[in-house]
Amino acid sequence: MKESNFAVPDIKEKENELKKKLDHSGLPCHIAIIMDGNGRWAMQKGMPRAEGHRAGVESLREIVRLCVELHIKVLTVYAFSSENWKRPQEEVNVLMDLLVEYLYNEMRELHENNVRINPIGRIDRLPESAGMALQASVNKTSGNKGLVLNIALNYGGRLELVDAARKIAKKVKEGKLDPESINEETLADHLYTVGLPDPDLLIRPAGDFRVSNFLLWQLAYTEFWLTSVMWPDFKKVTLLQAIIDFQHRERRFGGLIHS
Ligand code: FPP
Repeated sequence: MKESNFAVPDIKEKENELKKKLDHSGLPCHIAIIMDGNGRWAMQKGMPRAEGHRAGVESLREIVRLCVELHIKVLTVYAFSSENWKRPQEEVNVLMDLLVEYLYNEMRELHENNVRINPIGRIDRLPESAGMALQASVNKTSGNKGLVLNIALNYGGRLELVDAARKIAKKVKEGKLDPESINEETLADHLYTVGLPDPDLLIRPAGDFRVSNFLLWQLAYTEFWLTSVMWPDFKKVTLLQAIIDFQHRERRFGGLIHS
Protein backbone atom coordinates (compact mmCIF):
# COMPACT_ATOMS: atom_id res chain seq x y z
CA MET A 1 0.00 0.00 0.00
CA LYS A 2 2.76 2.34 1.08
CA GLU A 3 4.72 1.56 -2.05
CA SER A 4 1.91 2.51 -4.44
CA ASN A 5 1.31 5.76 -2.57
CA PHE A 6 4.83 6.77 -3.47
CA ALA A 7 5.01 5.08 -6.86
CA VAL A 8 2.20 7.04 -8.53
CA PRO A 9 3.58 10.56 -7.94
CA ASP A 10 7.02 9.25 -8.92
CA ILE A 11 5.74 8.10 -12.29
CA LYS A 12 3.83 11.35 -12.85
CA GLU A 13 6.94 13.30 -11.98
CA LYS A 14 9.06 11.25 -14.38
CA GLU A 15 6.40 11.66 -17.07
CA ASN A 16 6.39 15.44 -16.69
CA GLU A 17 10.17 15.53 -16.66
CA LEU A 18 10.31 13.55 -19.92
CA LYS A 19 7.57 15.67 -21.50
CA LYS A 20 9.74 18.74 -20.93
CA LYS A 21 12.52 17.05 -22.92
CA LEU A 22 10.28 16.43 -25.92
CA ASP A 23 10.80 18.46 -29.05
CA HIS A 24 7.23 19.05 -30.15
CA SER A 25 8.31 20.11 -33.61
CA GLY A 26 10.06 16.79 -34.27
CA LEU A 27 7.52 14.22 -33.17
CA PRO A 28 7.18 11.03 -35.19
CA CYS A 29 4.12 11.17 -37.47
CA HIS A 30 3.57 7.46 -37.35
CA ILE A 31 4.48 5.09 -34.51
CA ALA A 32 4.17 1.32 -34.91
CA ILE A 33 4.27 -1.09 -31.98
CA ILE A 34 4.69 -4.87 -31.73
CA MET A 35 2.90 -5.41 -28.42
CA ASP A 36 5.02 -8.35 -27.27
CA GLY A 37 5.66 -10.01 -23.93
CA ASN A 38 2.19 -10.40 -22.46
CA GLY A 39 2.58 -14.14 -21.98
CA ARG A 40 6.02 -13.95 -20.39
CA TRP A 41 4.94 -11.09 -18.12
CA ALA A 42 2.09 -13.23 -16.79
CA MET A 43 4.17 -16.39 -16.43
CA GLN A 44 6.84 -14.47 -14.48
CA LYS A 45 4.10 -13.48 -12.06
CA GLY A 46 2.72 -17.02 -11.87
CA MET A 47 -0.48 -15.96 -13.62
CA PRO A 48 -2.25 -17.40 -16.66
CA ARG A 49 -1.22 -15.93 -20.03
CA ALA A 50 -4.69 -14.42 -20.38
CA GLU A 51 -3.87 -12.05 -17.52
CA GLY A 52 -0.87 -10.83 -19.49
CA HIS A 53 -3.09 -10.02 -22.45
CA ARG A 54 -5.56 -8.27 -20.16
CA ALA A 55 -2.76 -6.16 -18.71
CA GLY A 56 -1.58 -5.54 -22.28
CA VAL A 57 -4.91 -3.91 -23.07
CA GLU A 58 -4.30 -1.46 -20.21
CA SER A 59 -0.96 -0.50 -21.74
CA LEU A 60 -2.63 -0.02 -25.09
CA ARG A 61 -5.24 2.25 -23.52
CA GLU A 62 -2.55 4.36 -21.87
CA ILE A 63 -0.39 4.60 -25.01
CA VAL A 64 -3.34 5.61 -27.20
CA ARG A 65 -4.16 8.39 -24.71
CA LEU A 66 -0.61 9.71 -24.84
CA CYS A 67 -0.58 9.61 -28.65
CA VAL A 68 -3.80 11.64 -28.67
CA GLU A 69 -2.30 14.13 -26.22
CA LEU A 70 0.85 14.51 -28.32
CA HIS A 71 -1.12 14.83 -31.59
CA ILE A 72 0.63 11.85 -33.15
CA LYS A 73 -1.00 11.28 -36.54
CA VAL A 74 -0.88 7.48 -36.83
CA LEU A 75 -0.43 4.66 -34.32
CA THR A 76 -0.29 1.09 -35.65
CA VAL A 77 -0.48 -1.75 -33.13
CA TYR A 78 0.13 -5.42 -33.88
CA ALA A 79 -2.73 -7.10 -32.04
CA PHE A 80 -3.08 -10.47 -33.79
CA SER A 81 -0.87 -11.84 -36.53
CA SER A 82 -1.90 -14.22 -39.29
CA GLU A 83 0.34 -16.77 -37.51
CA ASN A 84 -1.33 -16.33 -34.11
CA TRP A 85 -4.07 -18.80 -35.10
CA LYS A 86 -1.49 -21.49 -34.25
CA ARG A 87 -1.96 -20.70 -30.55
CA PRO A 88 -4.28 -22.84 -28.42
CA GLN A 89 -7.93 -22.10 -29.24
CA GLU A 90 -8.50 -20.94 -25.68
CA GLU A 91 -5.87 -18.20 -26.04
CA VAL A 92 -7.22 -17.16 -29.45
CA ASN A 93 -10.65 -16.83 -27.85
CA VAL A 94 -9.25 -14.70 -25.02
CA LEU A 95 -7.59 -12.36 -27.51
CA MET A 96 -10.74 -12.02 -29.60
CA ASP A 97 -12.87 -11.43 -26.50
CA LEU A 98 -10.44 -8.75 -25.30
CA LEU A 99 -10.57 -7.07 -28.67
CA VAL A 100 -14.37 -6.96 -28.59
CA GLU A 101 -14.34 -5.72 -24.99
CA TYR A 102 -11.73 -3.06 -25.80
CA LEU A 103 -13.67 -1.76 -28.78
CA TYR A 104 -17.03 -1.53 -27.01
CA ASN A 105 -15.47 -0.02 -23.86
CA GLU A 106 -13.25 2.50 -25.62
CA MET A 107 -15.25 3.43 -28.71
CA ARG A 108 -16.91 6.43 -27.11
CA GLU A 109 -13.75 7.89 -25.61
CA LEU A 110 -11.84 7.30 -28.83
CA HIS A 111 -14.58 9.00 -30.81
CA GLU A 112 -14.67 11.97 -28.40
CA ASN A 113 -10.93 12.29 -28.87
CA ASN A 114 -11.29 12.38 -32.64
CA VAL A 115 -9.55 8.99 -33.11
CA ARG A 116 -10.30 7.03 -36.28
CA ILE A 117 -10.21 3.27 -35.79
CA ASN A 118 -8.79 1.52 -38.82
CA PRO A 119 -8.38 -2.25 -38.71
CA ILE A 120 -5.72 -3.63 -41.06
CA GLY A 121 -5.28 -7.26 -42.13
CA ARG A 122 -7.56 -9.97 -43.43
CA ILE A 123 -10.29 -8.92 -41.06
CA ASP A 124 -13.05 -10.71 -42.95
CA ARG A 125 -11.64 -13.96 -41.50
CA LEU A 126 -12.13 -12.92 -37.86
CA PRO A 127 -14.91 -14.33 -35.66
CA GLU A 128 -18.30 -12.68 -36.20
CA SER A 129 -18.32 -10.93 -32.82
CA ALA A 130 -14.97 -9.28 -33.58
CA GLY A 131 -16.12 -8.35 -37.08
CA MET A 132 -19.25 -6.71 -35.68
CA ALA A 133 -17.37 -4.74 -33.01
CA LEU A 134 -14.87 -3.57 -35.61
CA GLN A 135 -17.60 -2.55 -38.02
CA ALA A 136 -19.37 -0.59 -35.29
CA SER A 137 -16.18 1.21 -34.25
CA VAL A 138 -15.15 1.94 -37.83
CA ASN A 139 -18.61 3.34 -38.59
CA LYS A 140 -18.65 5.49 -35.48
CA THR A 141 -15.18 6.95 -35.96
CA SER A 142 -14.86 7.06 -39.76
CA GLY A 143 -15.26 10.86 -39.95
CA ASN A 144 -12.62 11.61 -37.31
CA LYS A 145 -9.56 13.56 -38.32
CA GLY A 146 -7.29 13.08 -35.31
CA LEU A 147 -5.14 10.05 -34.52
CA VAL A 148 -5.54 7.12 -36.93
CA LEU A 149 -5.42 3.96 -34.83
CA ASN A 150 -4.49 1.07 -37.09
CA ILE A 151 -5.21 -2.22 -35.34
CA ALA A 152 -3.42 -5.03 -37.15
CA LEU A 153 -5.60 -8.12 -36.92
CA ASN A 154 -5.10 -11.40 -38.74
CA TYR A 155 -2.29 -9.36 -40.23
CA GLY A 156 0.80 -10.61 -42.02
CA GLY A 157 3.23 -8.37 -43.89
CA ARG A 158 3.68 -10.96 -46.64
CA LEU A 159 -0.08 -11.48 -46.91
CA GLU A 160 -0.49 -7.73 -47.27
CA LEU A 161 1.93 -7.78 -50.21
CA VAL A 162 0.11 -10.78 -51.72
CA ASP A 163 -3.21 -8.94 -51.39
CA ALA A 164 -1.70 -5.84 -53.00
CA ALA A 165 -0.31 -7.93 -55.88
CA ARG A 166 -3.74 -9.49 -56.43
CA LYS A 167 -5.49 -6.12 -56.49
CA ILE A 168 -2.94 -4.76 -58.96
CA ALA A 169 -3.09 -7.88 -61.15
CA LYS A 170 -6.88 -7.61 -61.28
CA LYS A 171 -6.65 -4.02 -62.52
CA VAL A 172 -4.10 -5.04 -65.15
CA LYS A 173 -6.34 -7.92 -66.28
CA GLU A 174 -9.32 -5.57 -66.57
CA GLY A 175 -7.22 -3.19 -68.67
CA LYS A 176 -7.39 -0.48 -66.00
CA LEU A 177 -3.67 -0.43 -65.32
CA ASP A 178 -0.65 -0.54 -67.62
CA PRO A 179 1.95 -2.94 -66.13
CA GLU A 180 4.72 -0.62 -67.31
CA SER A 181 3.34 2.18 -65.15
CA ILE A 182 3.55 0.16 -61.91
CA ASN A 183 5.98 1.77 -59.47
CA GLU A 184 6.54 2.00 -55.71
CA GLU A 185 3.63 4.40 -55.36
CA THR A 186 1.29 1.92 -57.08
CA LEU A 187 2.32 -0.78 -54.61
CA ALA A 188 1.89 1.55 -51.61
CA ASP A 189 -1.55 2.57 -52.89
CA HIS A 190 -2.72 -1.04 -52.73
CA LEU A 191 -1.55 -1.79 -49.19
CA TYR A 192 -3.88 -1.80 -46.18
CA THR A 193 -2.13 1.42 -45.10
CA VAL A 194 -3.02 3.31 -48.29
CA GLY A 195 -2.88 7.06 -47.83
CA LEU A 196 -0.93 6.91 -44.57
CA PRO A 197 2.73 7.83 -44.09
CA ASP A 198 5.20 5.02 -43.37
CA PRO A 199 6.12 4.55 -39.70
CA ASP A 200 8.90 6.81 -38.44
CA LEU A 201 9.38 4.74 -35.32
CA LEU A 202 8.89 1.02 -34.67
CA ILE A 203 8.81 -0.05 -31.05
CA ARG A 204 9.30 -3.65 -29.99
CA PRO A 205 9.12 -4.46 -26.29
CA ALA A 206 10.01 -7.78 -24.61
CA GLY A 207 13.57 -8.13 -25.83
CA ASP A 208 13.31 -9.81 -29.22
CA PHE A 209 15.05 -8.42 -32.31
CA ARG A 210 12.63 -9.56 -35.01
CA VAL A 211 10.23 -7.86 -37.38
CA SER A 212 7.80 -10.80 -37.13
CA ASN A 213 6.14 -10.22 -40.49
CA PHE A 214 4.99 -6.71 -39.52
CA LEU A 215 4.68 -3.88 -42.06
CA LEU A 216 7.41 -5.35 -44.28
CA TRP A 217 7.03 -2.77 -47.03
CA GLN A 218 6.38 0.23 -44.80
CA LEU A 219 9.39 -0.27 -42.49
CA ALA A 220 11.98 0.42 -45.21
CA TYR A 221 13.36 3.54 -43.49
CA THR A 222 11.78 3.27 -40.06
CA GLU A 223 13.86 3.79 -36.90
CA PHE A 224 13.68 0.80 -34.53
CA TRP A 225 13.50 1.16 -30.77
CA LEU A 226 13.85 -2.09 -28.83
CA THR A 227 13.43 -2.60 -25.12
CA SER A 228 13.37 -5.52 -22.71
CA VAL A 229 10.33 -4.02 -20.95
CA MET A 230 7.35 -6.36 -21.40
CA TRP A 231 4.29 -4.82 -23.06
CA PRO A 232 2.12 -4.87 -19.89
CA ASP A 233 4.82 -2.77 -18.18
CA PHE A 234 5.11 -0.42 -21.14
CA LYS A 235 3.66 2.86 -19.93
CA LYS A 236 3.61 6.53 -20.92
CA VAL A 237 7.13 7.07 -19.61
CA THR A 238 8.42 4.24 -21.82
CA LEU A 239 6.86 5.77 -24.92
CA LEU A 240 8.19 9.21 -24.01
CA GLN A 241 11.67 7.72 -23.63
CA ALA A 242 11.36 6.02 -27.03
CA ILE A 243 10.30 9.28 -28.70
CA ILE A 244 13.10 11.25 -27.06
CA ASP A 245 15.66 8.67 -28.23
CA PHE A 246 14.13 8.79 -31.71
CA GLN A 247 14.55 12.56 -31.73
CA HIS A 248 18.30 12.10 -31.31
CA ARG A 249 18.61 9.79 -34.31
CA GLU A 250 20.00 11.00 -37.60
CA ARG A 251 17.76 9.85 -40.42
CA ARG A 252 19.46 9.81 -43.79
CA PHE A 253 17.01 7.78 -45.91
CA GLY A 254 19.96 6.39 -47.88
CA GLY A 255 21.44 9.86 -48.47
CA LEU A 256 24.32 11.70 -46.80
CA ILE A 257 24.38 13.84 -43.68
CA HIS A 258 24.40 17.56 -44.41
CA SER A 259 27.23 19.31 -42.62
C1 FPP B 1 2.22 -10.86 -27.91
O1 FPP B 1 2.48 -11.30 -26.61
C2 FPP B 1 0.94 -10.25 -27.95
C3 FPP B 1 -0.11 -10.68 -28.70
C4 FPP B 1 -0.07 -11.86 -29.57
C5 FPP B 1 -1.39 -9.99 -28.64
C6 FPP B 1 -1.36 -8.54 -28.30
C7 FPP B 1 -2.65 -8.23 -27.71
C8 FPP B 1 -2.95 -7.35 -26.76
C9 FPP B 1 -2.02 -6.37 -26.21
C10 FPP B 1 -4.30 -7.30 -26.18
C11 FPP B 1 -5.43 -7.41 -27.12
C12 FPP B 1 -5.46 -6.40 -28.19
C13 FPP B 1 -6.44 -5.50 -28.39
C14 FPP B 1 -6.39 -4.62 -29.58
C15 FPP B 1 -7.53 -5.31 -27.47
P1 FPP B 1 2.80 -12.82 -26.42
O2 FPP B 1 1.59 -13.49 -25.94
O3 FPP B 1 3.36 -13.39 -27.68
O4 FPP B 1 3.87 -12.76 -25.32
P2 FPP B 1 5.05 -13.78 -25.12
O5 FPP B 1 5.97 -13.59 -26.30
O6 FPP B 1 5.66 -13.33 -23.86
O7 FPP B 1 4.46 -15.14 -25.06
